[in-house]
Amino acid sequence: MKALLMGPPGAGKGTQAEMLVSHFAIPHISTGDMFRAAIKNGTEMGLQAKAYMDAGQLVPDEVTIGIVRDRLSQEDCQKGFLLDGFPRTTPQADALEKTLQELNMQLDAVVDIQVSRDKLVDRLTGRRICRNCGATYHVIFNPPSQEGACNKCGGELYQRSDDSKETAENRLDVYNKQTAPLIEYYEAKGLFHKINGEQEMQEVFQDIVKVLGRES
Ligand code: AP5
Ligand code: ZN
Repeated sequence: MKALLMGPPGAGKGTQAEMLVSHFAIPHISTGDMFRAAIKNGTEMGLQAKAYMDAGQLVPDEVTIGIVRDRLSQEDCQKGFLLDGFPRTTPQADALEKTLQELNMQLDAVVDIQVSRDKLVDRLTGRRICRNCGATYHVIFNPPSQEGACNKCGGELYQRSDDSKETAENRLDVYNKQTAPLIEYYEAKGLFHKINGEQEMQEVFQDIVKVLGRES
């Protein structure tokens, strides 16, 4: 299964990706997670990415394309992969196509999780993440059993610095301007599937599994 998960910030890409990669036993490639790891490790790339992320802007294409190309070239991606949050611009989509051609691979499906803007802001501002294992919660929609602590490992929960209301609104504007045009791009290739992301998490998951099961 070689698939791509699209959708605006807060649509539930990370939440669904976690379940899907376990179901299909494929690697999860999230550019957002890769940038956050680079920031945590204090690398030069992380330093470069941080300023853009804190402002809710996209990291420049040349940086992003390079890290995805390197990751897709690794052997574990031969059996399949789930890209999450990449591509986000037309040059990134063109670069992905070129990279896949070079690696003799082909995309099976593009899944777009659709959620209306007012719900997205609530999802982003209420999100909490485990500092230890990365599990995602929501203060209202998916609260941990014990406030501030991860159900899985007991780790401390924190709020992402780009989940403030102002930065979340910026990210949604950037999505509409720079990423939404990719819907037409993938519709034209016959790979596009839209999913109603306003359902319960398990229902969204089942809808995606149905689509991916048909396309693999
Ligand atoms: P990235 O980390 O990719 O963030 P994003 O696309 O903004 O997406 P999010 O992680 O915010 O949301 P999600 O869709 O994963 O939602 P989640 O499952 O957590 O990117 C961050 C930044 O990195 C970018 O702004 C940019 O600067 C940079 N970057 C990354 N990729 C790049 C690229 N390709 N090019 C350039 N720059 C790039 O869910 C959200 C919340 O909702 C959670 O609390 C969850 O519990 C809850 N929730 C999930 N599903 C449901 C449901 N069905 N019902 C109710 N609540 C739900
Ligand atoms: Zn945890």
